[in-house]
Amino acid sequence: MARRPKIAKTVAALRRQVARWRNEGETVALVPTMGALHEGHLALVRLGRRRADRVVVSIFVNPAQFAPSEDFSTYPRTFDTDVAALAEEKADLVWAPENVSVMYPEGFATRIVPEGPATAGLEDAFRPDFFKGVATVVAKLFTQVAPNLAVFGEKDYQQLRVVTRMARDLDLPLKVIGIKTVREPDGLAMSSRNVYLTPDERAVAPTLYRVLTLCAEKIAKGRPIATILSEGREVIERGGFALEYLEARHAETLAPVRSIKDGPVRLLVAAKLGKTRLIDNVGV
Ligand code: PAJ
Repeated sequence: MARRPKIAKTVAALRRQVARWRNEGETVALVPTMGALHEGHLALVRLGRRRADRVVVSIFVNPAQFAPSEDFSTYPRTFDTDVAALAEEKADLVWAPENVSVMYPEGFATRIVPEGPATAGLEDAFRPDFFKGVATVVAKLFTQVAPNLAVFGEKDYQQLRVVTRMARDLDLPLKVIGIKTVREPDGLAMSSRNVYLTPDERAVAPTLYRVLTLCAEKIAKGRPIATILSEGREVIERGGFALEYLEARHAETLAPVRSIKDGPVRLLVAAKLGKTRLIDNVGV
């Protein structure tokens, strides 16, 4: 049986453990998560394993990034199976604050307000406080763990751009690494929220990725972006999704692009299927 990772429940316990490794001259990778781990998360852990001597995985369902109408209370929590999966991947430490006030003690009053990619009019247009919550918790995780590198998924592409920008803007001494989206065999991006899908919804969910890849192929051939996207939007809506956005953006700044000559292009989509909100993206 794989050795269970250590579990730190307080900032002091976390720091004690990381300091021991630092004193030995070991490097540390951080993989921030909200738990309910799937193969996508585990791919991040594997990359951390390859790039650093020690891997810390944080598991914290961050209330600051959920709007009151969102799924904070029902978000899947599967701590014991998460720890077992992390043991298989040889993660060294699970950073699991024992309650919300470890992260946000009474009187907590400082929030990071990211701009640039965080106000690109994508996720932020539908989840106005989301990136403030993400940036605040990620900044805390970075200073708590003080890792040499942190691994994020391209699945949450805007988040990856926001975190990369924040680390640079605040001169945080770590490297942010992004990895490709891990998908189900039919193309659906893995997500902790996929468990919410009914069997019928699950069957149509891969439409999003199919539309993204088809649009990307056509745009790469030089067809006009605006036309291709409006065709794509129609296919998604006909599939029974409530589309929030399907957009082509500059892959780094997330500024709108009108043609592939405007720089590297990323296509990003968000849509609701019943009660479940799905997001995905691909490069052109
Ligand atoms: P969570 O949704 O648990 O995702 C944790 C990390 O796993 C993120 O970097 C996300 O992009 C990555 N990830 C999720 N699904 C993936 C997939 N199919 N392929 C590759 N990577 C995938 O994102 C968050 O948590 C939170 O916002 C967090 C950064 C932890 C801050 O609270």
